[in-house]
Amino acid sequence: MANLPDHFVWTFLFLLLLVLSRASSSTSFTLFDVLDFGADPTGAADSTQAFSDAWMSACSRGGFFAAVVVRSGRYLLEPVRFRGPCKSRHVSVRMGGATLVGPPDYRVLGGSSSWLNFDGVSNTSVHGGVLDANGSSLWACKDSGRDCPNGATTLSFTNSNNIRIKDLTSMDSQMFHISINRCRNVHVQGVRVKADGDSPNTDGIHVQLSSNVLILRSDIATGDDCISIGPGTRNLTIHGVRCGPGHGISIGSLARSENEPGVQNIIVKNTTFQGTQNGLRIKSWARHSNGFVRGVHFIDARMINAHNPIIIDQNYCPYDRRTCPNQESSVKISDVLYRGIQGTSASPVAVRFDCSAKNPCTGIRMRNVYLMRLGDEVTQSSCANANGEALGTVQPRSCL
Ligand SMILES: *[C@@H]1O[C@H](CO)[C@@H](O)[C@H](O)[C@H]1NC(C)=O
Ligand SMILES: *[C@@H]1O[C@H](CO)[C@@H](O)[C@H](O)[C@H]1NC(C)=O
Ligand SMILES: *[C@@H]1O[C@H](CO)[C@@H](O)[C@H](O)[C@H]1NC(C)=O
Ligand SMILES: *[C@@H]1O[C@H](CO)[C@@H](O)[C@H](O)[C@H]1NC(C)=O
Repeated sequence: MANLPDHFVWTFLFLLLLVLSRASSSTSFTLFDVLDFGADPTGAADSTQAFSDAWMSACSRGGFFAAVVVRSGRYLLEPVRFRGPCKSRHVSVRMGGATLVGPPDYRVLGGSSSWLNFDGVSNTSVHGGVLDANGSSLWACKDSGRDCPNGATTLSFTNSNNIRIKDLTSMDSQMFHISINRCRNVHVQGVRVKADGDSPNTDGIHVQLSSNVLILRSDIATGDDCISIGPGTRNLTIHGVRCGPGHGISIGSLARSENEPGVQNIIVKNTTFQGTQNGLRIKSWARHSNGFVRGVHFIDARMINAHNPIIIDQNYCPYDRRTCPNQESSVKISDVLYRGIQGTSASPVAVRFDCSAKNPCTGIRMRNVYLMRLGDEVTQSSCANANGEALGTVQPRSCL
């Protein structure tokens, strides 16, 4: 550059600096450690305000990426709301090594619908950590028949887009462990859920009114559905999930109300059910409803002593019959494939299709289904108002 006039050199340097500073602001990366906001990693003092403040700082920072960091330790938390929209384009909450614990008095979480609620956020991820809601005292209250609060969902995402939940453990939730409600583009991976097989309403992952949701390689042991798929779920893929104990992977309960958005495009692949109450289930209350289920692929499932490996129940009534609606369900179920489902059934009726008389099931296809009782006894199937076809090996013998 020796021969170039000075102003050329200065212009070049200025442009270079401009480019560099732009690049660094667009890749800006800021960490917010909850300890700097006064969190107590011994679990003795409450850390709710510190988490809330760290989130607000990360969310409002601006720039490309901000993270809330939770270092190893135990953190006592009351209900926290992580609210968007954020100025930062991506926000991550990193909790590797940390355990968040709920307060000993179950009424503190129990009076709130969720413990950790992310609302109206986008491009947000939650990584690692153990969430221990310590829900067993609320379960005991519910079991005793006393008047108890409903309980809080441990981790909920509402009205949010582009969400990742990865390598996180939820144990002993009061109600649902994880709930995805009114969200788009959600990726859940490597999640572990643990709660007693008798714990009430502790669904592992609940999805509703959401689209483009992927649930991968997760291990779920709980007292209710491992995964429940509520009204308005579209484009949900579940792959590599182990369930048990639990009530299975369920579409429903549907027909909670008369006007209900349908469930569409669901793929459930490579799953294992061990000692569960159900395997692959679709359930609706016996109530008039314009809801529907359309386009479901249940592919490659292994049943290990599951009670109802394959079940469609349109007269769902888990409680006293007199308290159920006892009408004719009219939720329309169509285009459901069962392929490569094998293993053992704990009950003699391994396949049960109890569909609506008003709106029968159509397009049910079974291909290579092989379910035996332990000890190689043959199983049976039972059909009411169910239409479709069986292809390849199908045992129990199809009643479609
Ligand atoms: C989400 O991330 C994408 C890709 O980086 C970005 O284009 C978009 O603006 C982000 N959305 C929000 C609301 O920040
Ligand atoms: C859970 O709650 C009970 C009271 O219901 C309390 O005795 C116990 O210490 C709590 N456990 C944890 C891990 O906080
Ligand atoms: C579901 O996926 C299909 C195909 O991948 C896509 O065309 C459709 O827009 C998606 N639906 C929603 C509600 O995102
Ligand atoms: C099926 O899922 C299990 C986890 O439950 C995983 O280890 C295995 O690799 C998956 N198999 C295929 C073929 O994807």
